[in-house]
Amino acid sequence: MSTLTAGRVAGKVAIVTGAAMGMGRASAELLAREGAAVVLTDIDAPEGAAAADAIRAAGGRADFRLLDVSDEAAVAAVWSDVVAEHGRIDILVNCAGVIGPDKPTHEITEAEWDALFAIDVKGVLWGTKHAVPYMIEQGGGSIVNFSSIYGLLGNDEFSAYHVAKGAVTMQTRQDAATYGRHGIRVNSVHPSTVLTPLVEGIAADYPGGIAAYEAVNTTHQSLRRLGRPEEVAYGVLYLASDEASWVTGVALPIDGGYTAR
Ligand SMILES: NC(=O)c1ccc[n+]([C@@H]2O[C@H](COP(=O)([O-])OP(=O)(O)OC[C@H]3O[C@@H](n4cnc5c(N)ncnc54)[C@H](O)[C@@H]3O)[C@@H](O)[C@H]2O)c1
Repeated sequence: MSTLTAGRVAGKVAIVTGAAMGMGRASAELLAREGAAVVLTDIDAPEGAAAADAIRAAGGRADFRLLDVSDEAAVAAVWSDVVAEHGRIDILVNCAGVIGPDKPTHEITEAEWDALFAIDVKGVLWGTKHAVPYMIEQGGGSIVNFSSIYGLLGNDEFSAYHVAKGAVTMQTRQDAATYGRHGIRVNSVHPSTVLTPLVEGIAADYPGGIAAYEAVNTTHQSLRRLGRPEEVAYGVLYLASDEASWVTGVALPIDGGYTAR
């Protein structure tokens, strides 16, 4: 039986991208509540700073850095600052993402495809690329990538987004296979529809509003309701923590049973 500590990630240093709202914010809050020092990063400075303030007000350790994950040099600079300040990076949660245009493959433009991939695919690449050298040096770490059920399955909407999330699934497996010898674990979470600002924006325009959106979007789930951000954050916490010390390369659906049917 291992010794219990004050929190499930006590003493660890965590970076969360896209942490100003939604599931990134929920993950940052939960990691902080379980004892990590959390660096929240996002392109939304007011919301990101407010999220970090709220964590500190609740007794957690957190600060905010402005960061666009599609900017490789900026990612490298922020990670370097975090190591200068905290000494290490134990946990990286690559959560920042955008959904892009709802178009089928034959209507997508190159500019739309590139803009989406710059954030959803390259954002994960840059985050990982610049964290791995520190993790190798310190002898390990845990990376959790946000994919989607649509990084495992297709449907008839948002073609570019679903292909991008498929790339995140494969980046996760590739990096898990590559970096295990350094004690670095890499896993992905795959939510179905979770009620976050991203989804609220889509649902608001839906005929019949959010109730109709929820009914349609949960038709193929066993648990017929939208998810809550903290329900995904608990999966992130598990994969980030030493409780998952023998878990790598896993694609964890947190989806109300969508992929079970
Ligand atoms: N909400 C869902 O139903 C759902 C389902 C499956 C997967 N996901 C994925 O989960 C992750 C979080 O989604 P969410 O619903 O919480 O989204 P959200 O829109 O509520 O929050 C996303 C955050 O990412 C930030 N962001 C956007 N572009 C950025 C960039 N270039 N650099 C840094 N930050 C940036 C935004 O400012 C925002 O704070 C995303 O990767 C999303 O694709 C969401």
